[in-house]
Amino acid sequence: MSRIVIIASLLLTNVQCFYKQELKADYKEVLKLSLLFYEAQRSGKLPSTNRIPWRGDSALEDRGVNGEDLTGGYYDGSDFVKFSFTMAFATTILSWGVIKYKDAYEVAGQYAEVLNAIKWSTDYFIKCHVSQYELYGQVGNFSLDHTFWGRPEEMNMTRPAYKIDKEHPGSDLAGEASALFASASIVFQDVNESYSKELLRHAVELYNFANDYRGLYQDVIPGAKQYYDGCNCRSTSYGDELTWAAAWLYKATQNPIYLEDSQRYYKEFNISGEEASSFFYNKKIAGIQVLLAESTVSSKYLNAAKQFCDNSIDKQIRTPKGLVYIDKFGTLSHAANVAFLCLAAADLPDMSPGKYIDFAKEQIDYILGAKGRSYVVGYGYNFPKRPYHSASSCPDRPAPCGWDQYYSELPNPQILYGALVSGPDQNDDYEDKREEFLYNEVTVDYNAGFQSTLAGLIHHRKDVDGIEAVIV
Ligand SMILES: *[C@@H]1O[C@H](CO)[C@@H](O)[C@H](O)[C@H]1NC(C)=O
Ligand SMILES: *[C@@H]1O[C@H](CO)[C@@H](O)[C@H](O)[C@H]1NC(C)=O
Ligand SMILES: *[C@@H]1O[C@H](CO)[C@@H](O)[C@H](O)[C@H]1NC(C)=O
Ligand SMILES: *[C@@H]1O[C@H](CO)[C@@H](O)[C@H](O)[C@H]1NC(C)=O
Repeated sequence: MSRIVIIASLLLTNVQCFYKQELKADYKEVLKLSLLFYEAQRSGKLPSTNRIPWRGDSALEDRGVNGEDLTGGYYDGSDFVKFSFTMAFATTILSWGVIKYKDAYEVAGQYAEVLNAIKWSTDYFIKCHVSQYELYGQVGNFSLDHTFWGRPEEMNMTRPAYKIDKEHPGSDLAGEASALFASASIVFQDVNESYSKELLRHAVELYNFANDYRGLYQDVIPGAKQYYDGCNCRSTSYGDELTWAAAWLYKATQNPIYLEDSQRYYKEFNISGEEASSFFYNKKIAGIQVLLAESTVSSKYLNAAKQFCDNSIDKQIRTPKGLVYIDKFGTLSHAANVAFLCLAAADLPDMSPGKYIDFAKEQIDYILGAKGRSYVVGYGYNFPKRPYHSASSCPDRPAPCGWDQYYSELPNPQILYGALVSGPDQNDDYEDKREEFLYNEVTVDYNAGFQSTLAGLIHHRKDVDGIEAVIV
């Protein structure tokens, strides 16, 4: 049932009243759906609690170059490559959301689920981190993967694994993985102490690896370069990951050495010199500024965070209907990531909290349908029916699945609940066509900032305000 009530006129106050009540639980509902999306992206052996009826075990042969078990983790999006860099960033952002807004997950009944979602990633990264100076950064070959359209349960292409090590370092990848482990160790502190300590041990080792052996992982793992060149969103420096990892390690340990490191890198890599206009897995500056502002409460970082939010809200290009427009790839994810950072900044001194919270709500409401359509699969009015997503484009087994399903104009037979699509263009135009990945791509990193923003809005009790949808 569609939970967005279409109203012809906002003047009908009694309708609006009913409608506000109707939408009261909506952010909680979408939070739940977003977690279902993560579940649909699981690789490896699924537990008996699997809630996605059309998914089963897959990629059980994923192995490292020395035969190490690399099963598990998340498929990136439509494709079945496991990219550690974006998976780690997505998990760091989910963890940050839980650290800040645990209460929201609890009132939404999703606390256990989000822990499961984070642990599905951390368990995989523990496998990837095979020794102190060795980390697997990718499983699957993008070129081979893209010759296949179908179910992950049925794929049979070779899935080579690629790693970084002392001789072939990747400080951006190791740094992001360190940030993931550090942030997740905070999440698990009051859940499972021994697990939290294990995560922290990996975080420290990977931080030292990133720091002691410097390099860019794309020079080691060419597939990552090839893939991310397409969207002009590859990682081009490791300074931000070193700074980010140190800032997270300080949060996890309260050891001042890490805070000093982070502030030193901030200078060394000239992070203050660059004015950020986005927050994305390949551009973490604004996130670092908010994190360091939280940890130091120093005006240097507070001002930087405030400037980022004020510029994003007041000066960033918008679509005619008000979406902050940063990039054609992952347009909605970009807007949600900024919304998340500014929600986090709203809790800091000398900010404009009301403005930042309203901005976050405005951007999320756009995504959920306030301006005419929902961009979250399986939710709300006129949601995307043909996400660029191979597994959900397949009919129920045992019917065959292949390129016919890719070219089919019919809706995906399986509803990929909770997936945030890439989004509209700069004019709010959008086409629900499977092959138009600029509109309809879905990925595990796209959903992360979006989900954490939903949690933030629930925390700030913005769900009781409802959505002022104008659908003509
Ligand atoms: C791999 O899968 C394709 C279809 O998914 C099938 O046609 C082919 O025979 C399979 N190859 C092997 C070696 O199993
Ligand atoms: C803590 O996590 C570890 C690793 O997943 C698990 O083996 C153990 O059972 C967990 N302990 C509790 C009390 O949940
Ligand atoms: C991926 O597979 C293709 C096709 O077999 C091959 O040409 C390419 O070198 C592989 N890429 C990597 C990074 O292994
Ligand atoms: C730091 O960035 C600023 C602004 O982009 C630039 O003017 C300056 O030269 C940079 N400094 C260094 C040391 O790279």
